[in-house]
Amino acid sequence: MPSNSVTVRVPAKVNLQLSVGPREADGFHNLVSVFQAISIFDDVTVSRGAPGSGISISVSGEQTHGVPADTSNLAVKAAQLMIDRFDIDADLQIDVKKSIPVAGGMAGGSADAAATLVALDALFQLELSREELHRLGSELGSDVPFMISGGTAVGQGRGDQLTAALSRGTYHWVLALSSVGLSTPAVYAECDRMRAELEIAPPQVSDALMQSLLAADAQAVGRALTNDLQSAACSLRPALSLVLEVGRDYGALGAIVSGSGPTVAFLVADEEAGLDLAVALTASGVVGSVARALGPVAGAKVI
Ligand code: C5P
Repeated sequence: MPSNSVTVRVPAKVNLQLSVGPREADGFHNLVSVFQAISIFDDVTVSRGAPGSGISISVSGEQTHGVPADTSNLAVKAAQLMIDRFDIDADLQIDVKKSIPVAGGMAGGSADAAATLVALDALFQLELSREELHRLGSELGSDVPFMISGGTAVGQGRGDQLTAALSRGTYHWVLALSSVGLSTPAVYAECDRMRAELEIAPPQVSDALMQSLLAADAQAVGRALTNDLQSAACSLRPALSLVLEVGRDYGALGAIVSGSGPTVAFLVADEEAGLDLAVALTASGVVGSVARALGPVAGAKVI
């Protein structure tokens, strides 16, 4: 008996490395993106809707401000893609319970799209392979394939061509969240503007980062964190430089803007250091709110 409803839990991500090549003719940039999935989750429930209702979406939870509840939501686009590609004759209700910050550089929209693909695969017993789900995901956005697989991975091309990264150990993160997001295209455009006169080398995977992950050496991972979009995000949102500085001053092993920001991610040694840093950031008054998370965790999965 096919079920009428499937819930998928999907994590957020941080980028341990984000190296951005020159802007290509299609407007995208060749990337090396080392992703780690972390323990902040959205739950996406897809149910069969009332006949004739089409695809509807509702958004609830801690992080709803600015999330479109219409066809511009990437989860709705994911459902439409599956309906078209697999000739599914059904009306769908998508309920997103959000904890991942919106427009925060943590792939919240991509995560919900990834969860929707996995939910429809289960709801309609399509039994798609991981590779097929990745291919569908990359049609929706560069980060969607990673949100399906989770863990730690290297993304190349637009960030959607994934290979698993060998990573040992668990990493403790403190995240400084902003109440107002940043637009990813705007941050890439600012990066292009700031680098207009420079010769940009093709991006390379950082050996130092890969070796530190293999050795489970959090201090070395902290030192190896890099993000080519960081100065662009700080240029658009100058307060981020101060947030980075406060975290470094309070002993974070590494401090980095996540993806296109404005979330700032701090790597810390352990849970106690995470609690101390969270308190210090809150007390500093330069941070909207603070979250803590562990990584790596699994990607989108049915619960
Ligand atoms: O693929 P996605 O829809 O997530 O990309 C959002 C925006 O980020 C793109 O419209 C583009 O401006 C920028 N981007 C880029 N190069 C990439 C990935 C994203 O320029 N490799």
